[in-house]
Amino acid sequence: MDCASHKGETLRNQFLNMNITRNKNMGIKDQEIKHQAVTASERSHVKLIPEYILERYKSAKWWRFFPKDFVFKTIGEFKDKTICDFGCGSGGIAAQFAKLGASVMGIDISDELIKNAKDRAIVNDVSQNTRFIAVDAENYELPPKQFDFLLAYDILHHVDIKSVLPNICSGLKQDGKAIIIEPISCSPVFKKLRNLIPIKKDASPADRQLNKADLKLISNYFENYKLTFYSLFGRLIRFFPNAKYMDRDHPFTKFFLLLLNGVDRVLISVFPFLWRYYGIVVFVGDNSNGKQDDKI
Ligand SMILES: C[S@@+](CC[C@H](N)C(=O)[O-])C[C@H]1O[C@@H](n2cnc3c(N)ncnc32)[C@H](O)[C@@H]1O
Repeated sequence: MDCASHKGETLRNQFLNMNITRNKNMGIKDQEIKHQAVTASERSHVKLIPEYILERYKSAKWWRFFPKDFVFKTIGEFKDKTICDFGCGSGGIAAQFAKLGASVMGIDISDELIKNAKDRAIVNDVSQNTRFIAVDAENYELPPKQFDFLLAYDILHHVDIKSVLPNICSGLKQDGKAIIIEPISCSPVFKKLRNLIPIKKDASPADRQLNKADLKLISNYFENYKLTFYSLFGRLIRFFPNAKYMDRDHPFTKFFLLLLNGVDRVLISVFPFLWRYYGIVVFVGDNSNGKQDDKI
């Protein structure tokens, strides 16, 4: 373990110990903010995005296998696009969007993660086409009809969906698209099985998986939408320690990840009813036919 991650681990342990005594008095949002401050300290050493990563997502050739590649495929041409990264974390994806020519606004509840995102933009020389704001997504109004795309990557399961969806819709241009990626658990049997397996589950205090009712709720805000499911056998990614480095020097990892996710793709195209056993959904919605507001 290097120094930075050791420091992060120590901070995380301190945070967890602190939690035992404080949990009862702290709201879930305060706990989330504290948790993200620890995450930010672990990610404070921001780096230049390697060229091979930019190339991978620019070509988006693996969009059938991985949700993030699918995001880049959906956006397609980045030049002169305005994109909101809603719950941007430490700004990794926002910086990649900006590197490809988009103007990006990132929002996140954590001051510390937003600082990381700003530092990352400086290191990657994209400060001029990025803007990051530390705000609570549940109480912040996006500039109306501003964005060609809004990405909400792993944030809706942290917030009250009904508070943020009207805002997401009103931030989009008439033909703008929302891309929402979330962990899901739509099979009670799978949920029970998952609870029996001793693996690390929820990453932060506000973490949960969305269910079928949540997906229905989200779809109600959009005139047109499409769901793409990932991660049936792809779940086994957690057992590949080098999964993050599959693009470089880890051919076995790469082979197995493509195989597992490829099998997932084939299975769902032949047996669409299997969707409820998948672990990740990418929801792409728009209101190009006119509907903009909360109709729930
Ligand atoms: C799982 S992380 C995902 C971060 C980023 N989208 C990514 O994919 O790397 C969830 C993010 O949501 C942010 N978040 C949680 N609650 C929020 C809220 N109420 N308003 C804004 N951001 C929030 C957290 O600070 C965290 O950065």
